[in-house]
Amino acid sequence: MRIAILGAGHVGLTTGACFAHCGHQVTIADIDQDRIQRLRQDEMPFYEAHLDHLLEENRSRLTFTGSYADVADADVCLVAVPSPTGPGGGVDLSFVRAAAAGVAGALRQRTAAEPLLVVNKCTVPVGTGRMVSEIIRRGLEAEGPPAGKIDPPAYTVCSCPEFLREGRAVHDTLYPDRVVIGAESDGESQTLRALYQPIVERSFPAVPGLEGPDRATTVLVTSLPTAELIKYAANTFLAVKLSFINEIAGISAAVGASIQDVADGIGLDRRIGRSFLDAGIGWGGSCLGKDMRALTTTAAEYELPAPLLNAALAVNERQRGVVVRLLQEELRLLKGARITLLGLSFKPGTDDLRDAPSLRIAERLLELGAEVLGYDPVVRSIPVDGARLVASVADGARGADALVLVTEWEEFRGLPWADLARAMRRPLLIDGRNQLRPAELEAAGFRYRSIGR
Ligand code: UGA
Repeated sequence: MRIAILGAGHVGLTTGACFAHCGHQVTIADIDQDRIQRLRQDEMPFYEAHLDHLLEENRSRLTFTGSYADVADADVCLVAVPSPTGPGGGVDLSFVRAAAAGVAGALRQRTAAEPLLVVNKCTVPVGTGRMVSEIIRRGLEAEGPPAGKIDPPAYTVCSCPEFLREGRAVHDTLYPDRVVIGAESDGESQTLRALYQPIVERSFPAVPGLEGPDRATTVLVTSLPTAELIKYAANTFLAVKLSFINEIAGISAAVGASIQDVADGIGLDRRIGRSFLDAGIGWGGSCLGKDMRALTTTAAEYELPAPLLNAALAVNERQRGVVVRLLQEELRLLKGARITLLGLSFKPGTDDLRDAPSLRIAERLLELGAEVLGYDPVVRSIPVDGARLVASVADGARGADALVLVTEWEEFRGLPWADLARAMRRPLLIDGRNQLRPAELEAAGFRYRSIGR
């Protein structure tokens, strides 16, 4: 199939690379000319495991363009542009509107006889599918007769929300738990099933170092608004689950229990499940918080209270303060203390700093008069005035009063702890992700504190 993708961000680029790997012809369009230029020269705009390999392997099936007009003759056009938080907590749909207008412009040049299937992949409030359809219709009507051979150029709009996680984006795209298709007709859902067939059947070539799970991918066909709501409900459920375990972690610490054992104990119940029950400094990233706020805004539009969602947001905000409190308990005075953050990205496997807990923690420590250093295997700058990036964990440990594990990168598990403890002014380690083995750290000379223990 010929696929056009609007937006070369995490979703668009990963989806494009994976569909090219499945044998489809893919054109990726983005208004960021610099990004397109770099992609043409095989330069990655961000770090994502396996993505560089896929882009290189499938280069012959991938075209990058700086113009939405170049997507005119695709079979399917996926919209994967940003949908950030707008003023007041709602979603800023300006990129989606611009993409829809771009599709209208492209359709006027269309020569293919079949209707273009426009598929929304970005996370957008319920009803956006209909809005996109209207923008395209009005765009076509406003401009007079089309230049292409089709009169009027036909299109339909459906939804296929994206569930990939950053850092695991290629894995999640090639081996999704489910593909949700929000369509209004059989024809639309058949086209999307055909698009996803190589993924559902796993008929694409293996990616070195990437293993798929045993379970199969389920395809679920729903109405368009249902698919849009499924995406929000999924992300907000995950966020509520995290805030739940983080709230229990506070109680666990108070009563002297172990939060990891509590998580294992409840996670063994199949109705609950163990995943997304790792207590820590709270969630970050561009999705969970944004989607929680967007859904509470939608609820408010219908005058529906959303106390559970609001409470989950508040718990998450408070959670970022937990490591600061632990540092105060241990060091008493933070003024003049040198504190080194291990890991800055919002989670391992990515260099994304959007809503990263590390930034809020660094800001708070600086406000309290501490000196803040940060080390990360892939992040190359800290956007917090006064915080300083160091080139290695050893540089960060030298003369420090505490190390704080903020992002659970694999390389932090096997550090030469005894050497690091010796190099510090005070060998204190706050494990914000409960990832290290307390006995090992204590044997290396550290005072070890973690969340919920
Ligand atoms: C999330 C969803 O998991 C994806 O399904 C969704 O497609 C994506 O948002 C999106 O809407 O685009 P993502 O934000 O990339 O994906 O990252 P997650 O893996 O969900 O992690 C979110 C945060 O929760 C991270 O800060 C992570 O460290 C934290 N987390 C996760 C925990 O604190 N504990 C856990 O047990 C799991």
